[in-house]
Amino acid sequence: MSNRLKVTPNDLSAFWMPFTANRQFKQAPRMFVSAKDMHYTTSDGRKVLDGTAGLWCVTAGHCRPKITEAIQHQAAELDYAPAFQMGHPIVFELANRLVDLAPKGMDHVFFTNSGSESVETALKMAIAYHRVKGEGARTRLIGRERGYHGVNFGGISVGGIVTNRKMFGTLLGGVDHMPHTHLPEKNAFSKGVPEYGAELANELERIVALHDASTIAAVIVEPVAGSTGVILPPKGYLQKLREICTKHGILLIFDEVITGFGRLGAPFAADYFGVTPDIMTTAKGVSNGVIPMGAVFVQKEIHDAFMTGPEHMIEFFHGYTYSGNPIACAAALGTLDTYKEEGLLTRGEELAPYWEDALHSLKDEPHVIDIRNIGLIGAIELAPIAGSPTKRAFSAFVKAFERGALIRTTGDIIALSPPLIITKGQINELIDHVREVLRAID
Ligand SMILES: Cc1ncc(COP(=O)(O)O)c(C=O)c1O
Repeated sequence: MSNRLKVTPNDLSAFWMPFTANRQFKQAPRMFVSAKDMHYTTSDGRKVLDGTAGLWCVTAGHCRPKITEAIQHQAAELDYAPAFQMGHPIVFELANRLVDLAPKGMDHVFFTNSGSESVETALKMAIAYHRVKGEGARTRLIGRERGYHGVNFGGISVGGIVTNRKMFGTLLGGVDHMPHTHLPEKNAFSKGVPEYGAELANELERIVALHDASTIAAVIVEPVAGSTGVILPPKGYLQKLREICTKHGILLIFDEVITGFGRLGAPFAADYFGVTPDIMTTAKGVSNGVIPMGAVFVQKEIHDAFMTGPEHMIEFFHGYTYSGNPIACAAALGTLDTYKEEGLLTRGEELAPYWEDALHSLKDEPHVIDIRNIGLIGAIELAPIAGSPTKRAFSAFVKAFERGALIRTTGDIIALSPPLIITKGQINELIDHVREVLRAID
């Protein structure tokens, strides 16, 4: 086998990198060549502590044996089976395992290959559900400012991040947005869910008054918004949203692509907050990010509403060639086994107080204007450099990488979301890296 550590690509130009400053990267590439547990190894042989679980997805840590073995075995046994009108045993096994883990009543699961596809699936399901129930006028979708729901057209339409929307035309029609819940003037440096802002859920009533409930299919929110820089729901906010949706017959979709599978210290944010949505989108942690996979959970009533008409007819005209791909299913089963054996879906609860104290110890460091935390998620918001938004945080990201820590930045916010196997010592190490970086950058 070749020594990958020594291999460097000849030319970096062909690959147009996603969500990347391509020109900056190609002048000073940052390459990972291997990974194990909490660390990556770079092409120049340095260990880098993973403070972000890859992209919020490597929840059980890297190259875990159960997952690797499951993939190897499955690849040699059944590589692919058609997803439409055919099945294979482990996709059913996985669906059963997942619904056993899901909040009560979410008895069915639809497989996709990413968070973005899970979102599109959920939005289509919501509109189609009302139609099969005889309420075909309910087509409007309500998202939220600063929401992130992936990059497909439905997702960017209900999403609320301007850079992800402004280049792409008129997007979906019939979409409205609630305000975000980021209130730094009242909630800065809150520990856990902030005190103020539950009344922002009442904005949904204003939207209902404008459009009428009979035209609205669904509301989609991230219970904790991650990609926009970690925005937490104020105390009581999600409960209020649930009540308003129920009152008006509007489906509530929780986008749990980052909060699903233990990130908050409970299997799902729905468990953590005690609020059950009608549809729940997941991806990332379902297969530890190893093989692309997404899963959309639905309440029994929604699934059953489709199960009408002649039995030879397809009930829901939607699906992907790789929905429930056998190797992805094997990866997911290996992931669920790892979570179970190591108690990872609730480990965040034990670590959360330590994590919170460690994060908030950065309060008086240079540039810091807010710190937010919940479960094993943390955000450190920096004052932007006047006239150059995002530049300060990006410098922090590059410096951290050079020092030996992978952090993630969005806008001028550092977001941290380490694998759930992180130790207290590694939490200290990660926070010390951030502290030194904050002291070193302009
Ligand atoms: C809440 C949420 N929804 C959807 C997505 C999109 O997932 P993917 O990149 O797998 O399409 C993400 C990705 O970060 C996310 O955080």
